Amino acid sequence: MISIIVAVAKNGVIGDKNTLLWHISEDLRNFKRITSGHPVIMGRKTYESLGRPLPNRQNVVISRTQSHIEGCTVVSSLEDAIALFPQEEEIFIIGGAQIYALAMDIADKFYLTRVEHTYEGDTSFPEWDESKWELISQESFVCGEKYPYPFTFEEYKKR
Ligand SMILES: NC(=O)c1ccc[n+]([C@@H]2O[C@H](COP(=O)([O-])OP(=O)(O)OC[C@H]3O[C@@H](n4cnc5c(N)ncnc54)[C@H](OP(=O)(O)O)[C@@H]3O)[C@@H](O)[C@H]2O)c1
Repeated sequence: MISIIVAVAKNGVIGDKNTLLWHISEDLRNFKRITSGHPVIMGRKTYESLGRPLPNRQNVVISRTQSHIEGCTVVSSLEDAIALFPQEEEIFIIGGAQIYALAMDIADKFYLTRVEHTYEGDTSFPEWDESKWELISQESFVCGEKYPYPFTFEEYKKR
């Protein structure tokens, strides 16, 4: 099963200058809880923004220019990344925008954090067709313990 996980600002922005624009502890905990124990697949730039492999997860990096990254499996296409795992395994596409754009059509599940605030940034989540996805859970927060704006965790499955 292929799952996508992302946090998206109100205006579609997901990052700027290869970093995240917000720090929401609840979202980081949610990301860790959902993805731990499962493979995570990411673009080379997202890997560089993390700076190290995520612990307790097999890290797969997609790149045309790199062939070895310490602690990661490096492949040259999304198809090669997916082919590493049996179909029954839940694998997570964790970004960034280029890799989300490749994966949205083939994903089965979509974990979306809606950050209810507008941010200026150079990277946006690709347009997606909400009619193809069924909302299966939703949890809203008026703010975080240290984050001042509202956000919502949503989970969708492909119709
Ligand atoms: N808000 C969130 O939830 C979230 C999550 C993840 C990332 N982000 C943000 O998103 C931004 C990074 O996203 P991005 O779109 O710039 O980069 P990205 O998708 O992380 O990585 C792009 C790189 O992936 C490789 N790639 C892309 N398409 C490929 C293909 N078809 N075949 C082989 N390799 C391919 C290329 O690597 P090479 O150049 O090495 O060939 C390309 O430069 C950062 O700001 C990050 O903080 C946000």
